[in-house]
Amino acid sequence: MGKLAITGGKPVRKKPFSAWPIYTNKEKQGLLRVLASRNWGGYPFPNKIAHNFAQKFARFHGAKYGLAVANGTIAIEIALKAIGIQPGDEVIVPAYTWEGTVGPIMLLNAVPVFVDVDPDTYCLDAKLIENAITAKTRAILPVHLAMRFADMDEIMRIARERKIAVIEDCAHAHGGKWRNKGAGATGDVGCFSFQSSKLMTAGEGGAVITSNLECCERAQSFMNCGRASITDQFKHRMIGFNYRISELQAVILQAQLERLPQQAKVRQANMDYFEKRIRGTPGLDFLKRDPRQTRVAAYQYVFKYSPEHFGAPRAAFLGALQTEGVPCDGLFYEPVYKSALFPVEAKEWPALSWGRETPLDLKSSYDCPVSARAAYDEAVWLPHHIFLGGRKDTDDIANAVLKVCENIQELRGMKHSAIETKGMSRAERPRVEKRQW
Ligand SMILES: Cc1ncc(COP(=O)(O)O)c(C=O)c1O
Repeated sequence: MGKLAITGGKPVRKKPFSAWPIYTNKEKQGLLRVLASRNWGGYPFPNKIAHNFAQKFARFHGAKYGLAVANGTIAIEIALKAIGIQPGDEVIVPAYTWEGTVGPIMLLNAVPVFVDVDPDTYCLDAKLIENAITAKTRAILPVHLAMRFADMDEIMRIARERKIAVIEDCAHAHGGKWRNKGAGATGDVGCFSFQSSKLMTAGEGGAVITSNLECCERAQSFMNCGRASITDQFKHRMIGFNYRISELQAVILQAQLERLPQQAKVRQANMDYFEKRIRGTPGLDFLKRDPRQTRVAAYQYVFKYSPEHFGAPRAAFLGALQTEGVPCDGLFYEPVYKSALFPVEAKEWPALSWGRETPLDLKSSYDCPVSARAAYDEAVWLPHHIFLGGRKDTDDIANAVLKVCENIQELRGMKHSAIETKGMSRAERPRVEKRQW
């Protein structure tokens, strides 16, 4: 019997952390009000609560216009359509992100161009963007990942010089700020997700924000079955779809937005304390803080684990940490082009063949070493809700991390179902997970 819970010792913690999502009477009363009104859907567009929420959400981030939509993946599709992406256009994306950042590019028969991430932030490496630009590049799509922002100064400089658009994927960044401007408001369009695990949620949902009226009008038409937008100054007409959100979701999101700033403060204080406690541990490293990110939004606390230093793979560290009572993840994202959730058959995506003798093979054309190391070896992801408790809860997280690091020799060569699960990709996990965010 060892010291670690996974080898038979006593776990640091048995008690669950703060439950997520959080709701109060605000959500309950709001839902009952909408129920009684019998006005549940998103039509006629924009419906009242969805519109009110979307405007507040946009203003909260410093943008003029906001639209509440069905989910975050669709928000990205709408944004691409709003900036006028055409079949065959190229869109630059970070390799290390959720597949939902990239799928919408494919769906519009445009071509994703993968660029590696910065080892200091795990966000799109702005230094590598210029090399990836071609005559077909129409947009850059940075993702503000986990708790950091992509370098928006550099991205905007490159984009403005070449007259290409910038869409910010802010699925992790609700309430975050770059140079005192809210997430999504520096680029041309910002996209958010309200899926269950996110910093604000209605189970599912998304938002698009912009300060460009023409973009906003195109987005409205596209998400509302092609109907004219409310202002219709630019008279765009297009085939559109029903990507509206329901009033039941919107009323939940109103309450969630009110609660966000207070939760962000608690989370940040606990994360700062946690970092202070584990900093200096040999074999652990940290993402850098950039003073231009003037407000941190932390969807997950992410740090770096060195398998070489510890002589045990990350899955073993994570399996042990989970067994100590701390929810954690490692293979949260993969370089998208390597993911089983990104199977690409050239015949389904005609733009991959245009102007080429053989179709562009997205699966084998890229090598992004920083993304690969983060994905398969190094990154440790801790979900935000475990940082919503008190000092004692945060001490438990730090104590568990330190305990596993100090007793790592117990894990060398070990086989265990918890370790096996931590080595699984997002495509494989639903087989074993009871609950997946
Ligand atoms: C970075 C990123 N982009 C896009 C999405 C897509 O959002 P949704 O799941 O709401 O479609 C997500 C969330 O799942 C995400 O984490």
